Amino acid sequence: MRHLDAEEVSARVRREVRNREVHLPPVSTYRWWARRTEAVNGSIIDAVSADKPGRMVVSDPFAGGGVIPLAAVMRGHSVYAQDLNPWAAAGLASMLALPDPEALRDGIAALTQRVLASAQAAYGTVLSDGTPGFVTHTFRVAVAPCTHCGARQRMFPHALVTLTSRVERKLPEAFLACPNGHLFKGRRDQIASCPTCDRVTDPDQVYTPRRVVTCQCGEQDRLEARASASSLEWEVVLVERAGGGRRELALPTAGEKTAATALQAQPRMSLGTIPAGQETAVLRRHGFSRWEDLYPRRQRAMVERLLELAAGCSTDEKVVAALRLAIIGSTEMAGHLSRWDRYYLKSYESMAGHRFNFTTLPVEPNVWGTTTSGRGTTLRRLVQLVKAAEWLRKHTGGQLKVQGPLHAGAATVSALLGEDIDGRPLERPDVLVVAGSSQRQLLPSGSVDLVLTDPPYHDDVQYAELSQPLQAWAGLAAPESGSDAVVNRATGQLVADGSYTALLASIFRESARLLREDGHLIFSYANRDPQAWVQLLEALQSAGLRAAGCTVVHSENETDHAKRNVRACTLDLLLDLVPVSSREVVKHRPELGAGAEQEFLAIVANYVLSVGELASGWQLEFLDSVSNAEFLKPQKRRHSGLSTPPAGEGSAPAG
Ligand SMILES: C[S@@+](CC[C@H](N)C(=O)[O-])C[C@H]1O[C@@H](n2cnc3c(N)ncnc32)[C@H](O)[C@@H]1O
Ligand SMILES: [Zn+2]
Ligand SMILES: [Zn+2]
Repeated sequence: MRHLDAEEVSARVRREVRNREVHLPPVSTYRWWARRTEAVNGSIIDAVSADKPGRMVVSDPFAGGGVIPLAAVMRGHSVYAQDLNPWAAAGLASMLALPDPEALRDGIAALTQRVLASAQAAYGTVLSDGTPGFVTHTFRVAVAPCTHCGARQRMFPHALVTLTSRVERKLPEAFLACPNGHLFKGRRDQIASCPTCDRVTDPDQVYTPRRVVTCQCGEQDRLEARASASSLEWEVVLVERAGGGRRELALPTAGEKTAATALQAQPRMSLGTIPAGQETAVLRRHGFSRWEDLYPRRQRAMVERLLELAAGCSTDEKVVAALRLAIIGSTEMAGHLSRWDRYYLKSYESMAGHRFNFTTLPVEPNVWGTTTSGRGTTLRRLVQLVKAAEWLRKHTGGQLKVQGPLHAGAATVSALLGEDIDGRPLERPDVLVVAGSSQRQLLPSGSVDLVLTDPPYHDDVQYAELSQPLQAWAGLAAPESGSDAVVNRATGQLVADGSYTALLASIFRESARLLREDGHLIFSYANRDPQAWVQLLEALQSAGLRAAGCTVVHSENETDHAKRNVRACTLDLLLDLVPVSSREVVKHRPELGAGAEQEFLAIVANYVLSVGELASGWQLEFLDSVSNAEFLKPQKRRHSGLSTPPAGEGSAPAG
């Protein structure tokens, strides 16, 4: 900790979170939520290295989005990475084993050629001036009958459906929907009368405030009531086309509507039922029961077609794996769920802001993609993958040897570093990835120099739920239940008193078993809830760990608007622990400035520094001493960034 320049690290964190994909291109390989920064974790590794020159074994038992393993391999260390979630473990292994960029380019070229006919059939069109092009987005509106009078109604969320050019161009042209659901061209700054039914249409009007829709007969229905009375129908109402370097929004032609319904397509993959959960509740309430329900038929068929084609595009299995990853990644834009940003003219992934977002005006992407429009399409992802592969080579000095994902139930492997009797380094992988609960880890005792990790924050992000559609497309089984270290109030997981602490403690204990006697276990944590700190410190102490120091760094998650408990935290506490058995260390104390959050953290830090020797009853004493902290007093709702339309109707996609 004393080697760490907190000021300098904080400045680098700020730069990194502003543009993650540029700073750390490999993170675009697979979606994960609440990724950490290379700035903080790289600096920690450097600080530990200062006392321990040479190659280290770094382990991360909650590896998730893989930023910590990445920071370690960039510095030439060996990595043990484990995560409960199979999508995360598989993504991490693929990310670090990205193929040779040249071979990847060849694979992409092969796929591009083979997909041509299918893409043309699915999305081929002409722009209004006759230029050939592709449909890039297909808008559908939810239609359902009124529960009172039975009148079928198109349930547009707003009168202003979309601008026709990005807001910064300051042009007023827009598509408007009248209260009866007729779509027409108008202006965002003028009240219009509907060309079909003459009804007055105010571009500022919201039609489904708080998910309540009003019928012409006056009846007000909750959207979920309509969805459960008779399932929602999705009617194609608008398309975006791209061609000749331009894009245009237009009412769909008959041909485009036919292509969108894709009646002849026969998607075959079954993705499983949507289980009850904290985040999945909104899907089930609105009538989705299987994961494939989130996708229009054409999107499903196209994803399946691409997966088939990818298999024959290279003899290098790493290339095929990378192509598959890009195709599967595109499914985060689910055509019945992705929201349209009507000011910035782009769609959002279905799990933007760590939630499944239900909307009555979802947009279906062009799965393959064009170079003119479309976030998150396969083509865009492939371009990103090439960049990631090049970057990785440059920063790790060549192809990493990655083993796994192994299953956590597998036999223990040999240590990642070692020498034979002649002093030659043993032939071992650079990275070992394991899928399954870190209550059991596969390395021998005393073989790790640094455990650097990021445990789940109590009940903040439901990783398992959010990753399920991706996991289903990848054909991976859902993670074993019962060992997810995230509290889930919908399923009752770890809700029982002490169960979160017990699970964390058993993972910390197992992580500590792997540590060498002079090893360190380091992670950062932020939480406004004193109980969360109590549980954490209890877990650490009962795992046989002792505090070696702590310090404060600027929060890595400032742009994650949707994080609940940690929303208002701007600082993270970095905790440094060592095995109880190790020799005495001089504890590093954080330097804390003035301010409510600093004062709170100063109290927390005192207790953190006593881990290993916290006397019984410390919990009450701690809770009492923070009870008056200014930082914990209820405050005005902070501006979340979600409520100002032009500044970004969607939350910024994080990580
Ligand atoms: C806060 S995230 C880690 C994020 C990561 N540091 C990054 O930068 O992307 C916590 C991770 O713990 C994983 N997890 C939850 N319970 C676990 C368990 N019992 N064993 C291993 N991993 C678990 C979750 O799947 C999640 O990926
Ligand atoms: Zn009615
Ligand atoms: Zn009308």
